[in-house]
Amino acid sequence: MTEAVCPARRCRPAIMYNTRMKFFIRTFGCQMNENDSEHIAGVLAAAGAEKAGRPEEADLVIVNTCAVREKSEEKLYSYLGRLSSLKKKRPFLIGVAGCVAQIRRRNLIRNRPFIDFVVGPDNYREIPGLVERAGAPCVRTGRGREWREFGHGETLRENPAVAYVTVMEGCDNFCAYCIVPFSRGRERFRPAANILREVREVAADGSREVEFLGQNVDAYRDPETGRGLDALLDETSAMAGIEWMRFITSHPRNFGDEIIQAMRRNPKVCRQLHLPLQSGSTSVLKRMNRGYSRDDYLALVDRLETALPGLQLSTDIIVGFPGETEADFEETCDVVRRVRFAGIFSFRYSPRPLTAAARLPDDVPLEVKRRRLLALQGLQKTIQLGLNQSFIGQTVKVLCSGPGLRGPGRFSGRTEGNLVVNFSAPEDPTGRFVAVRVTGCGPYSLHGELA
Ligand code: 5AD
Ligand code: SF4
Repeated sequence: MTEAVCPARRCRPAIMYNTRMKFFIRTFGCQMNENDSEHIAGVLAAAGAEKAGRPEEADLVIVNTCAVREKSEEKLYSYLGRLSSLKKKRPFLIGVAGCVAQIRRRNLIRNRPFIDFVVGPDNYREIPGLVERAGAPCVRTGRGREWREFGHGETLRENPAVAYVTVMEGCDNFCAYCIVPFSRGRERFRPAANILREVREVAADGSREVEFLGQNVDAYRDPETGRGLDALLDETSAMAGIEWMRFITSHPRNFGDEIIQAMRRNPKVCRQLHLPLQSGSTSVLKRMNRGYSRDDYLALVDRLETALPGLQLSTDIIVGFPGETEADFEETCDVVRRVRFAGIFSFRYSPRPLTAAARLPDDVPLEVKRRRLLALQGLQKTIQLGLNQSFIGQTVKVLCSGPGLRGPGRFSGRTEGNLVVNFSAPEDPTGRFVAVRVTGCGPYSLHGELA
């Protein structure tokens, strides 16, 4: 890599590459961001670049950011601090992508001259061009009206067994605390024909599971035929090769009977759902603009569990939303005790720019938010440990996603219920289904050995 002056003299010295360019992507946030990073990697690989194992070895580092909570955004700034010190030792390009890029735009590069470009989710295909003309910092956050389709060669998947397939993006629900309608924009649906083409491609490439992604996935409607998620599940079920299907994220308000029926008639749809509760108090839910009450949520859980025996539920909960009283919080804990979720993602409320709740007083003191979060997590840990212990001695079907963290001979995968299983096996079963005998567990995973 050598430094040269930009021939057009419009910009700062460009970095020119005389070998294959290496890129590293650091992803924060949800599965949709992970899928976007796979697209960014694919677009760069199609342009001739290759993946680096560490930022220290890369000519280009892209940070794919999450804006959903204050803490997610803080993680970006501390990571950028690290990159800026690295860049003082050796030149390389830094790009900021994702939701913070879309929200903060030009403000990100003010006082951060080490950032070379800022690129929003609708503009990832422009990244190779931005790299070419690196020099003057660029900001590309325009929104297209068309679905941002990526070709088969423009996706470099991380997991050989499970393929993420984005079906919709954005959200029209405007929950009072949530930045997503602003960072990802209003709801847009991907044509079903393109989704099904991608599913066929991933099945041919060896994926055994498909996970449909969208911020509000059960609102999905094919822009051409108006058919919903139920039709996507039916058509994917008919495809050879795909054995498990999931979808995330659901909204209790949009979860219609047609989806329950589609799950019932298609055994390939995993008996597992992520169904964000956010709060167990009807008055808090009202102020959150969630569109359902505590009783509506419990009734939906009842209908689901009756229709789909063995269903594993997970959820998201926010503690310390403006005005949340001790009694409101107790109602949340009560729902958690009743439903016995297999997993909870729990967060302290933080006000986010542009949202309706940002105009409310953030009146639950930090110590109270901390205490409630710890109490909720403690309660859930006990419930989860109990649920996981009930698997000890059983043999479970696991889709292996790759080597585990604990050294050679150890692998990791998930069950149909989305539980993480770490296990030992004499040879590498990555990408395949295996039977694992569960010998032990912690609150967050099972462990065992090949049966
Ligand atoms: N503060 C705390 N948690 C939030 N979430 C979304 N916005 C906020 C916020 N402002 C949580 C919700 C959502 C998950 C992705 O993040 O629980 O479901
Ligand atoms: Fe955010 Fe609510 Fe939309 Fe989920 S449904 S992305 S929480 S606005």
